[in-house]
Amino acid sequence: QAATDHEAEDAAISQGAVESNHTGYSGRGFVNFQAVTGSSVEFTVDSPQATNAKLDLRYALGAAGSRALDVSVNGQTVADDLSFPSTAAWTTWLSVPVPQATLQAGINKIRATTSSGDGPNLDKLTV
Ligand code: GCU
Repeated sequence: QAATDHEAEDAAISQGAVESNHTGYSGRGFVNFQAVTGSSVEFTVDSPQATNAKLDLRYALGAAGSRALDVSVNGQTVADDLSFPSTAAWTTWLSVPVPQATLQAGINKIRATTSSGDGPNLDKLTV
């Protein structure tokens, strides 16, 4: 099955902001988690069948060090404090894989949440 992109700016955003002031993103922009612990982006992913899906989160982190996100699928944590290393520039975008997650047939809710302070700027989820 071909990979499908889900843009963060089109997802359900809680306490984050859609921005477009750093180039290189796909779609209309990206989500800035705004340094709020617990801010989140929830993607709705329709799967034709139950499957072990490969998930990738594309992001930029121009600050030094790394930042973390918790990732859940249908309310179940599949990655606790998933690490997003610095990309060295806010215009440099890389992808971090989410450990294999099981999707159910039909609608799935995939959520990325800041676990301690700020997260990276989030561009999209690829399934
Ligand atoms: C800068 C940058 C933002 C980013 C923020 C951060 O302000 O312009 O895009 O979200 O740093 O540290 O997260």
